[in-house]
Order: sequence, then C-alpha cells, then structure tokens
Amino acid sequence: MYNVVLIPGDGIGIEITKAVTTILDTAGAKINWIECRAGSGANDDLGTPLPDETVEAIKKHRVALKGPLTTPVGAGFRSINVALRQQFNLYSNIRPARSLPNIDSPFRGVDMVMFRENTQGLYIGKEHWVGEDEKHAESIAVVTREASEKIITAAFEYAIKYGRKKVTLVHKANILKLTTGLFLKIGGEIAKNYPEIEFQDLIVDNMAMQMVLNPQQFDVIVTTNLFGDILSDLASGLVGGLGVTGAANIGDDAAMFEAVHGSAPDIAGKGLANPTALLFSALMMLEYLEEFKTAERIRAAVYTVLQDHKDKCTRDIGGDGTTDSYTEAICKILRD
Ligand code: NAI
Ligand code: MG
Repeated sequence: MYNVVLIPGDGIGIEITKAVTTILDTAGAKINWIECRAGSGANDDLGTPLPDETVEAIKKHRVALKGPLTTPVGAGFRSINVALRQQFNLYSNIRPARSLPNIDSPFRGVDMVMFRENTQGLYIGKEHWVGEDEKHAESIAVVTREASEKIITAAFEYAIKYGRKKVTLVHKANILKLTTGLFLKIGGEIAKNYPEIEFQDLIVDNMAMQMVLNPQQFDVIVTTNLFGDILSDLASGLVGGLGVTGAANIGDDAAMFEAVHGSAPDIAGKGLANPTALLFSALMMLEYLEEFKTAERIRAAVYTVLQDHKDKCTRDIGGDGTTDSYTEAICKILRD
C-alpha cells in the first residue's frame, strides 16, 4: 500500500477528488488515502489556509494528490499552491497535452509535454510599492543557475526516458537579458550532454503563435514559471481545455499531483465538473509510484468512455452527463 495525502481543496475539488479516488479504488490501486485540508475552506473553518498537519503529512508521506485551491484575487492570503511548491521545492511542473479521442477540437495529433520551472521567476511573490501613494508597483523575478539546471535537466531526462525526440526551450532573452538570458544559456550547455535529442529555442511570443499554427511540431518544452503558466493553459486549449489536462509537481523529496484548472466556482456543487484532468494527474502519480499497469488500464477505460459513451461525459467536452455518470461509466469498464 502507498500512503497518499489527499487534499480535496475548494470548489469543484470536493466533487472531482471523490470521482478520482472512486476510480482508482475501483481499479484496485494500492493506495491508502490520508485526507488533509488546505485552501480557502480550511481558512474559513480552521483559521489557516495551510494547516501544519497538512504540511507534516506531506513531509511524512511525500506524495500528494491535490484538488484546486481558491486564492483570493488582489488582497488576502498568498497562493497556497505556490507556497506548497516552494516549501517542498517541487521545481518541475510537468503538464502533458495530448489529443484525446472524440473530443471536438480543430487540432489533431497534439502530443507535447511542458516542463515549467515551478519555484522562481516572477512567482516568488516579491512585490513592493515605490513611494507612498500606490501609483508605482514593482515585482522581482529570480532565475538561478541551480534551479534552471534542475528543470532543464529534468526535461532532457524525461525526453530520454520516454523516447522523445526534441526539447524546445522558451524564453524572452531579447528583452529579459539577464533572467531568461541565463535560462537560455544554461539550456544550451545542458543540451550538449544530450546529442541524441534535438534542441531548439524560441522566443515566447513566437512560441504562442507557433503552438496555434502548428502544435504538432512540439515534443518536450521547457520554460520559466510565468511563460509556463500561460503556455500550458494554451496547450490544454489545444486538446479539449482545462477539464482534461493533468499535471505533476515533482521535486527531489516529494511530489504533488494536481489538475491545471482552478476551483471553478461558477460550476461548483452542480455536478458539472469534469474529473478527467485530476484523473490524468492521478495517472501521472501512479506512474511516479511505478504502478504503470493500473495507470494504463484506467487510461484505456477513459478513452473507451470518450469514444463509445460520449453521452455519459461532462458537458465541457461535449457530453450530456455529469461528474457522477462519467465516473460510473469509467468504473463500469474497470469492473467488467
Ligand atoms: P478555473 O480553472 O477555476 O476556471 C476557468 C473556467 O474553466 C471556468 O469556466 C470553469 O468552469 C472551467 N473549468 C475549470 N475546470 C473545470 C473542470 N474540471 N470541468 C469543467 N469545467 C472546468 O479558473 P479561475 O476561474 O480563473 O479560478 C478560480 C479559482 O481557482 C481562483 O481562486 C484561482 O486562484 C484558483 N486556481 C487554483 C489553481 C490550483 O489550485 N492549482 C489553479 C488555477 C486557479
Ligand atoms: Mg495557471
């Protein structure tokens, strides 16, 4: 049995974590779920958005599956997602975007995996006012050699492990010459250690256009935090949207798996949430735990439901069903 910390989180988090644990349990995954709180619900009920017990549980068990957490916009507590990534140095944010069967999209044959540096860049939260009258704000971006080497090496190692052919590094070194310039320079150095992998670098604005014009050209992508945040949502739009894109946050000592999407307050509690994104995150977790067979069985069941039982799927991907009908359709295939 693996002990996995389960954080249902906020909004649709409650519904989709229930769906995903049901599916994994039905597939016979050997997981003992340890449920913990975090997010704005925890803040309301317990007076903190990140209780110590949750941090201690992740420290102890090292693997977590997390639903989305609501972060107040503008003022209020800082993102707990960002805090967890920093606290456990989960420097690799890995977001695959792969075309799925029977999902309405003008883009076919997309199969890219984005590696986003997860602890630095503009997301370190170092912002301040200049002067007294709140008319001038500044934000600091940090890029270090150590963190860049780690994420870029992780991208190349992934390419080797999974038989990928190309790594594209995305930057803005023409303008941000020091920060993303350093990232680009290190990319060039590391690429030399992997002569069998094609290495390419693109400026982020061009990258955004290329991803829409010809997304099939991309394989593994590696970039800094902000660019990775934006481009990975773009990538998920190419394959059916936020409801179907999973993600992993991996460090040397711990790993946290979560969907790319947020808590979707507009549909929370209505049974409309698509659990696929969190489910695909959970499959990345099973692969991380080297439970490849169970992951593959569940993926095959999802593909069958998309292909043959579209009516049971949630509406965001063109179905006519609910979180529950979709979950039950997957479980039925796993049981049969
Ligand atoms: P969002 O991802 O929650 O929602 C964007 C749109 O996509 C909404 O129309 C929503 O209904 C739809 N959507 C998202 N996930 C879906 C799913 N599984 N099934 C069907 N439709 C889905 O982004 P938004 O509205 O910008 O953020 C809401 C809250 O989530 C904010 O507090 C934000 O800070 C937080 N958030 C948390 C993240 C995390 O925990 N990792 C990531 C992104 C946002
Ligand atoms: Mg994002």
